[in-house]
Amino acid sequence: MKVSGFVGSPRKKGNSDVLVDTFLDGASSSGAEVKKFFLADLNINQCRGCFRNCVLKPGTKCAVFRDDMDMLLDEMASADIMLFASPLYCAPYSAIMARFFERCLPLWEMEIVGELGTMDAFKLINNPVKGKKAVVGLAQDFKDPGAGELAFTAYKHNICNTYMMEIVEKIHVTDVRDVGDIRKKREELEKIFKLGKELATG
Ligand SMILES: Cc1cc2nc3c(=O)[nH]c(=O)nc-3n(C[C@H](O)[C@H](O)[C@H](O)COP(=O)(O)O)c2cc1C
Repeated sequence: MKVSGFVGSPRKKGNSDVLVDTFLDGASSSGAEVKKFFLADLNINQCRGCFRNCVLKPGTKCAVFRDDMDMLLDEMASADIMLFASPLYCAPYSAIMARFFERCLPLWEMEIVGELGTMDAFKLINNPVKGKKAVVGLAQDFKDPGAGELAFTAYKHNICNTYMMEIVEKIHVTDVRDVGDIRKKREELEKIFKLGKELATG
């Protein structure tokens, strides 16, 4: 069992980072092979927007850039469970996470079979992450969980609708501001550890 965690915060040991570490520790305690990717440390170019080039060719490589997305897309294709965790920034998740999701488009391999601009335009040939289990995590300052609604909607659009994975759990940590505030939430961390452990057990 391979479990990968993707951190969308720029803060090392920040709340999203600790959330991912805790989940992966739980998965590891079940014997899973775990990996963490701190996206802000990686070389991820901004998508150039050619849109169809990566999708119409076989394989999972971007048609423009040779950067750390080559490695990340391979890792996603070989993972069994993925956790995507980010701080709430303004309305949805961070731009770091958004940039990463935009660059996941090469996961698709499609054929044009219908009218462009409609859902019938493309026929799916392959998507190596289709049907995989995903967990989404969000850390936010506000106590009101409703503040995270847009982020979870955006996660669903990207992870389920676009990349065809299944979101099996949501982790929402509210009322955390400074680096490491999440460590004071011992019960929530225990739940996150347990979730990682249970999901990795299968
Ligand atoms: C640019 C920016 C925008 C933010 N916007 C919000 C927001 O709209 N609502 C909220 O609850 N917290 C907001 N926050 C606070 C972070 O979500 C919060 O501090 C979080 O715990 C940071 O997680 P991290 O330690 O993983 O970076 C914002 C923080 C930054 C830097």
